[in-house]
Amino acid sequence: MVVSVAQVRVEIHLHTTWLSMSMSVAFGAVAATTVKADLWSTFFASALPSKNLQPLNIFSIVAEEQQQTTCNDQDVKEIQAAPSLNVITFDEGVKPLTCTDARLTELLARVNAGLKSYPPELIEEGVGGAYLLKDEKGEAVAIFKPSDEEPNSPNNPKGNFADNTEMKTGVTPGDGANNEVAAYLLDREHFAGVPYTNLVVATHKAFFDANSDDDTLKSKIGSLQEYVPHESSCEDRGSRGFAVNDVHRIGILDCRMCNTDRHLGNILVKNEGANVRLVPIDHGLCLPTKLSDARFEWMTWPQAKQPFAPETLKYIEQLDADADCELLKSRFPSISDKSLKTLKICTVLLKRGAQAGLTLYDIACLLCRMEDLDTKSELELLCEKIEQQLHNDSDDDDDFLARLIPEIDGLVSLHASKGK
Ligand SMILES: Nc1ncnc2c1ncn2[C@@H]1O[C@H](COP(=O)(O)OP(=O)(O)O)[C@@H](O)[C@H]1O
Ligand SMILES: [Mg+2]
Repeated sequence: MVVSVAQVRVEIHLHTTWLSMSMSVAFGAVAATTVKADLWSTFFASALPSKNLQPLNIFSIVAEEQQQTTCNDQDVKEIQAAPSLNVITFDEGVKPLTCTDARLTELLARVNAGLKSYPPELIEEGVGGAYLLKDEKGEAVAIFKPSDEEPNSPNNPKGNFADNTEMKTGVTPGDGANNEVAAYLLDREHFAGVPYTNLVVATHKAFFDANSDDDTLKSKIGSLQEYVPHESSCEDRGSRGFAVNDVHRIGILDCRMCNTDRHLGNILVKNEGANVRLVPIDHGLCLPTKLSDARFEWMTWPQAKQPFAPETLKYIEQLDADADCELLKSRFPSISDKSLKTLKICTVLLKRGAQAGLTLYDIACLLCRMEDLDTKSELELLCEKIEQQLHNDSDDDDDFLARLIPEIDGLVSLHASKGK
């Protein structure tokens, strides 16, 4: 038996299932690869977001092996005992990938060197567990957000735990880490500038576990995002000086992913010479299974009402929601079909709206609940109408989208003509 541990690119697939099945599924995978049960029981016990009969996330790991070292039982114990950030791979049953991820390798090396002197620091801002990780010089390098410390998870160090409750309508606790990675992947050509993000397993006693004391090491799965040095967030200043294109780039990502959490604290501001650049962070609450909670605070900024630049229009035109869905499915095989449907619907609205000459603001007005939070958005109403036409008896997204597209075209042309 060997467990292979390597600082390599890894894909961790989160499978939604039920607790009653979870441990058998987990240990089914473990048995197949004869991974030490104690490592994985510690790991799963701390990584699973909920304790009752709720959909849970089970992790299977697919990794590319590169400069892989093989470890014995003693090594496994050491991994458990040492505060570290590791990517853990199986030596059997591994689906090899075709490319390496040097960036993750480098990030992990820096963080692991830093962990010898600097424990993860829980960041005060935000509503879930987010830890600042430093390198050996004490410089910030990454933010780690454990999947079981998300809002409404029992291990959220900031409280905010309500059993059986979604983080936002249509986003389950534990989905956040995947969504962070999804945003990085969907940010094609790094258009919006989502910082590098991947999934890792981290072990440290500094993490929070409602049932363990401060001296217990906890192994957690979560998102690791490159730290972006910044001056402030958008919350701390007005929007004057923000480039129209920066606002549009972030807004485009938000519309596609139906972000339910784009408040001003989730956009960092960094100075680049004489210019100010905006960096979007915190995408845990994207890709909801329902369209009801889209929220974009940039809508109040004048930049959102400016027309799209020609190159932005080109970017929007070549977006391909089917390819995006395939990418997400290849990475997260158990991603909910409803989340993928959200991505498809929102991408159609963005593309058709932009094509018809609507501004980012106009498009956002169709996507968000504008009157009050109980009054459905125009997009929700259209989707409901089509679902009724299909008598809710078709699960086929193609049928749905075939009907949605002309309806959206009607809606956007109405708004385009109003704007003239
Ligand atoms: N990539 C990053 N670079 C720099 N700071 C970050 C980054 N990601 C998060 N932070 C800091 O950590 C805080 C909490 O992270 P966030 O992802 O917003 O978590 P939450 O879901 O708890 O709001 C942010 O408000 C910001 O101050
Ligand atoms: Mg936040």
